[in-house]
Amino acid sequence: MKPILVAGATGNVGSQVVAQLRARDVPVRPLSRNPPPGGVRGDLAEPETIAPALDDVDTVFLMLAGSAEGLVRTVSLLGERVKRVVFLSSGAVDDSLTEQVNAIGAWHRTVEEAIEAAGVEWTFLRPHGFAANTLGWAPSIRADGVVRGAYGEASMTMIHEKDMAAVAVEALTGSGHDGAKYALTGTRPMTQIEQVRIIGEAAGRPARWEEIPHEEARAALLTRMPDFIVDTMLNATRDLVGTPGPVTSTVEDVTGRPGLDFEVWAAEHAAEFR
Ligand SMILES: NC(=O)c1ccc[n+]([C@@H]2O[C@H](COP(=O)([O-])OP(=O)(O)OC[C@H]3O[C@@H](n4cnc5c(N)ncnc54)[C@H](OP(=O)(O)O)[C@@H]3O)[C@@H](O)[C@H]2O)c1
Repeated sequence: MKPILVAGATGNVGSQVVAQLRARDVPVRPLSRNPPPGGVRGDLAEPETIAPALDDVDTVFLMLAGSAEGLVRTVSLLGERVKRVVFLSSGAVDDSLTEQVNAIGAWHRTVEEAIEAAGVEWTFLRPHGFAANTLGWAPSIRADGVVRGAYGEASMTMIHEKDMAAVAVEALTGSGHDGAKYALTGTRPMTQIEQVRIIGEAAGRPARWEEIPHEEARAALLTRMPDFIVDTMLNATRDLVGTPGPVTSTVEDVTGRPGLDFEVWAAEHAAEFR
């Protein structure tokens, strides 16, 4: 059996894809710029560094790292070398639009279009918010049990990285997923205020939300993300106040088991919040 190349192999989703493929005894070739033991080094924005990793590979798990433009060049190389690509895209892509208005949607759609044009079998995973995004709260929860942010009442369906990986593994190894665009969510919407409380319960120390104004939250986020992502994220979060994010049954439809609740995610990651 040929190895499956897994990009982003040390990240939230990629590391789970690697682990779940190995649990099925599928040969894996993990790839990142700083690869894990047994992995290969490559930069997705520089196709010449990816080419050697494609020897004897038919199937690739791809994610968007670096710029979309850089990744598009790597996608043309994949079109020449491999048969199947499963791409970790984003729920921000809106199929009802010919041109994406949301910057994050546009970024991911650019790569999707390149994959569609590359002449490979493809599957797009389009997750909404990751449960792992709440790891950004870990320093403040560890420090004083308080998360300061905007729009605590925003209600979203956070998805466990294991669920995204489980769908990816089916698409990488199974049949019937060619051309599928899978909208992936967690099991139920919950407000950011509830998420913080659940993390505190899992960690065994009370944690609470403290509301701050939009501009103050924006300034704090700009210290770790580019402005187009911060603004898109904050505006999308504001839209979720009173209008909860969607819930899909795709994880269960594809894997045959229900998705994992946020409480499960919080229990598994509790140590990171202590
Ligand atoms: N967070 C959300 O709510 C959300 C929602 C929808 C979609 N998404 C998608 O999910 C992605 C994040 O996935 P994740 O959380 O699993 O990632 P992550 O934890 O941030 O990990 C990123 C992985 O990519 C590797 N990497 C980074 N830059 C690279 C490059 N130029 N070339 C090769 N490898 C590179 C990193 O390792 P090295 O640094 O060693 O290279 C690491 O293995 C986002 O970029 C977005 O496309 C996220």
